[in-house]
Amino acid sequence: MSDQENNREVVDPFKPYKGRFKSYHSIPKKGRGKDEIFNELSTMAREENAMWESGQVSGTFYHAGEAHREYLNKVFALFSHVNTLQFDLCPSMFKMESEVISMTAKMLHADAVKQVNPADEVCGTMTSGGSESIIMAMKTYRDWAREEKGIHEPEIIMPHTAHPAFDKAGTYFGIKMVHIPVTEPDYRVDPEAVAARINANTIALVGSAGNYPYGLIDPLDKLSGLALEHGLGFHVDGCLGGFILPWFEKLGRDLPLFDFRLPGVTSMSADTHKYGFALKGTSVVLYRNNNLRRYQYFNTPDWSGGMYASPTAAGSRSGGLRLRAAARGD
Ligand SMILES: Cc1ncc(COP(=O)(O)O)c(C=O)c1O
Repeated sequence: MSDQENNREVVDPFKPYKGRFKSYHSIPKKGRGKDEIFNELSTMAREENAMWESGQVSGTFYHAGEAHREYLNKVFALFSHVNTLQFDLCPSMFKMESEVISMTAKMLHADAVKQVNPADEVCGTMTSGGSESIIMAMKTYRDWAREEKGIHEPEIIMPHTAHPAFDKAGTYFGIKMVHIPVTEPDYRVDPEAVAARINANTIALVGSAGNYPYGLIDPLDKLSGLALEHGLGFHVDGCLGGFILPWFEKLGRDLPLFDFRLPGVTSMSADTHKYGFALKGTSVVLYRNNNLRRYQYFNTPDWSGGMYASPTAAGSRSGGLRLRAAARGD
């Protein structure tokens, strides 16, 4: 088979609309009718929904039924044009975002941090998804360790099963990500193997609750102990499990502790757009206290366009998404 035929065999299944719907490579001279465009998009949406509605897709699509999705879309429409960057023009966004963060923090037992240090108070920000939450937390640890510990060649230790967003952060921010293989028979990270890799450049540890490959929770209590012993940051990735595990507990399932009840946990990510059942485009990243969170922020007071400050990597952020995550309905 020629290279061209080979490529076609790989790529063609991802292009089912080729030849079926017209392709546009520049803005057309004459626009098309709105109904025609809507009908074409409806066909694509219907056919693509059928692929995951079969129930055979694990991950990526998370939904709580058609009625819930319709309600979220209705609410979204009210603020779909709003840019949260300019929060003085949309105080509702401030309210919604704060409430989503506060609800997520309470759900993950933020109150427990007071028992360890009464001055601590869990705080956070909303991001565009799990990856951005993780990336922001890793940048925070890099800047925190540079400023407060003088570490300039930072290393973070993670289970090999942790999400690739951690490696992405390592690439973006010049952090060496040290992978620890998981061990048989339980496929969770071995805390002793983690301990063996801690050195003077280590700034933080990572654990998952649960991880994407196996859905398993790492031995977080042991990692929490290591973080406390060595004065490290400890991020628990609850992007997938953050919005399910608390409810398993309420149902009486016997689970290991996975959140701020562990005294060494300094940050967590939990995705509203996964099992929080918001539409796509939001997540929450939480920190044990504001001293840590401030390393996430960016601001520049003397730009010629005026003072510019933003809490996450994104500049403009959708108001509709913030409202969507806050709207629980009945
Ligand atoms: C455990 C875990 N962490 C992080 C992520 C990244 O989330 P996102 O795809 O929203 O960036 C995922 C995505 O599935 C995940 O399962």
